[in-house]
Amino acid sequence: MDVKKIMVVGAGQMGGGVAQVAAQAGITVVLNDIKTEFVERGLGIITKNLERSVAKGKLSEEDKNAALGRIIKSTSLEDASDVDVVIEAAVENMAIKAEIFKTLDKVAPAHAILSTNTSSLPITEIAAVTGRPSQVIGMHFFNPVPVMKLVEIIRGIATSDEVYKTIEALTQKINKVPVEINDSPGFAVNRMLIPMINEAIFCVYEGVGTPEAIDSVMKFGANHPMGPIALADLIGLDTCLAIMDVLYDGFGDPKYRACPLLRKMVKAGWLGQKTGRGFYDYSKK
Ligand code: CAA
Repeated sequence: MDVKKIMVVGAGQMGGGVAQVAAQAGITVVLNDIKTEFVERGLGIITKNLERSVAKGKLSEEDKNAALGRIIKSTSLEDASDVDVVIEAAVENMAIKAEIFKTLDKVAPAHAILSTNTSSLPITEIAAVTGRPSQVIGMHFFNPVPVMKLVEIIRGIATSDEVYKTIEALTQKINKVPVEINDSPGFAVNRMLIPMINEAIFCVYEGVGTPEAIDSVMKFGANHPMGPIALADLIGLDTCLAIMDVLYDGFGDPKYRACPLLRKMVKAGWLGQKTGRGFYDYSKK
């Protein structure tokens, strides 16, 4: 199937990024969220990103306008009635995702593929709430989406080969690198990356070093583009905690226990860049 029109559910940092790269690749994108203000905010960030690329001479004004012209605003899942693929990037909550997928299953055309950008929830379980489990698949993007090349493509137990191939081709069309991964807790990247971040938070918790010191050792001693504590703030501390808990529950192994400091910060609502405060203060930026 040649994918011409998609819906992105969720206009937050991940959904907005996916909408941007798809629109830049010539695909018509229905950008959906529950409130108009969320869609407008997502579109505002996309516009700023594209304007920055124009200012740097990496994108023409015409291409910027063409990409923005391909994005259709939506606050109703009914708008999925004529799309080829849905990419869901709503909150990491199984009950909410199940409701979204049940609705999409009713309104999306029979040929449409329903994909999810979940960073940790089982694809097989999401697929099971629909009447089309062979057409449900994971497309796991990385933050910041316009910059990071990888998309983990995760098959559920029933995902068909044809659906896999269509999503692999779509990933390449939007200039990303697809890697096939099986449905397993945390998939592959987060199973390795988030325990590393959790260990970095333990280092802060136990007084091994300040957040700045822990970030510096990994930047200058392991050549990471940013330190693990700053990365946790970028990803969102709530997302990091949710992934640790999925690993802990999924494997039943105490090595995946979340650091108490991570849990405390999430309880405080200090979620990182998106709330203006995490391990670092972003309120003045
Ligand atoms: N949106 C769009 N573009 C962005 C951006 C954003 N949020 N942040 C940075 N960029 C762009 C910049 O505009 C710049 O573009 P040009 O090369 O065209 O000039 C480029 O990225 C580099 O940015 P900077 O020079 O400002 O800063 P940098 O070189 O330090 O790079 C970074 C910033 C790309 C974030 C880099 O630090 C990095 O790669 N960090 C690691 C990110 C990472 O590991 N992400 C994965 C998180 S895990 C995940 O997302 C999965 C999950 O389920 C939790």
